[in-house]
Amino acid sequence: MKLVIIGSGYVGLVAGACFSELGHSVVCVDNDMRKLEALKSGIMPIYEPGLERMVVANMAAGRLSFTDDLGAALVSADAAFIAVGTPPRPTDGHADMKYVFAVARAIAEKAHGDLVVVHKSTVPVGTGDEVEQILNAAGRRFRFSVVSNPEFLREGVAIGDFMRPDRIVIGAEDEWARAVVSRVYGVKGFEGTSVLHTSRRSAELLKYAANAFLAMKITFINEIADLCEAAGGDIRDVADGIGLDSRIGRKFLNAGPGYGGSCFPKDTLAISKTARDHKVQLRTVETVIQVNENRKRAMALRVLDACNGSVRGKTIAVLGLAFKADTDDMRDSPAIPLIQALQDFGATVRAYDPEAMDNAQGIFSHVTFCDDAMDAATGADAVVILTEWQEFRELNLLKLRSRVAAPLLVDFRNLLSEDAAVASGFDYWCIGRKNSALDLLGRPIAAE
Ligand code: UDX
Repeated sequence: MKLVIIGSGYVGLVAGACFSELGHSVVCVDNDMRKLEALKSGIMPIYEPGLERMVVANMAAGRLSFTDDLGAALVSADAAFIAVGTPPRPTDGHADMKYVFAVARAIAEKAHGDLVVVHKSTVPVGTGDEVEQILNAAGRRFRFSVVSNPEFLREGVAIGDFMRPDRIVIGAEDEWARAVVSRVYGVKGFEGTSVLHTSRRSAELLKYAANAFLAMKITFINEIADLCEAAGGDIRDVADGIGLDSRIGRKFLNAGPGYGGSCFPKDTLAISKTARDHKVQLRTVETVIQVNENRKRAMALRVLDACNGSVRGKTIAVLGLAFKADTDDMRDSPAIPLIQALQDFGATVRAYDPEAMDNAQGIFSHVTFCDDAMDAATGADAVVILTEWQEFRELNLLKLRSRVAAPLLVDFRNLLSEDAAVASGFDYWCIGRKNSALDLLGRPIAAE
């Protein structure tokens, strides 16, 4: 089939690459000429493992191309996927739909015939109705039908999530549109994948509900981690123990500094706003939002605890800036409030991240960006691990100890073995376990 993907960001570019890998003929449309030129040269605008290879191979095979000419792209198209951003409006947190509606108007103007329009972007419930009205209001003599086909891609593993989805959701309002999108996914590769056919509104809602639930699951385990620290449990065993219950599952039970990214913060806010618009209050989601925000801000206070109450005049090495491992994305990263607070408390910050350094340069000021973890740790009075990069799991702790000015290691992702850290001479602080550097009354034991 011939597919048009409008928007070459995290969702559109991955979808376009994967659809072409699966044999479809794909044209990705974007209005950012620099991005398009880079893509045509095989340079990716985002870091996503496996994406570059897939894009380059399918461009070479003639199944994938990039253009800013929507009209030309829509010639003989079987379906057009809208994959542009729906960022939170700064004023009220609602999803900003102006980019989606602009694309809808452009499709209405440029279409050459009947067309199924598919929402890949996460859009508030009812958006499909609005977009369909925009398309049909253009007065073209063509038939338009809008389908909600939400993606569930995680950054850093997006290719795998697309090619091996837990489920495919098709929210259509007529048989024609349902059949077209079913054919898109009817290609070899999705055999055996559950396909949920539902209404458009149910599909729109379930995408937000999925993200809100995952955000809630993470926030739950983060709060249980706090209880473990106070009551003497070990959050890793507690998470393993509840995760063995098939009704719960172990995934998304890794306690940490709080969730970030371009989706959970945006989508929890959007669904809570949508609910209020419908005179419904999602108290659980509203609490999740608040608890998570508070947690990200509290991480700096934990560093102060570890530093006997003050970081003034101290050098803190922050390992990990991206909101999670295997991405360069800094959106809503816990690193942002942490570093800003440490600087406000008078610390000098050295930082390193394997992929997010370019994005970080535009966010932080007066941070020393380092070449690697050992460079960042040089002369540090404390080393803080914030993102779960594999290379931080494999740190040579004796070498790290030799670089620091004071043997303090704060592991906000529980990546390391406490025994190994203590054996290497560190005071080791972590999440969800009684910190070895605290006495039985929870007071910091002074570092030697
Ligand atoms: C999420 C959803 O998982 C995905 O289905 C949706 O399409 C987009 O939003 P993403 O934001 O890319 O994906 O990353 P994800 O792996 O879900 O992590 C989100 C945040 O939760 C990160 O900050 C991560 O560090 C945190 N997290 C995740 C935890 O703190 N603990 C966990 O166990 C899992």
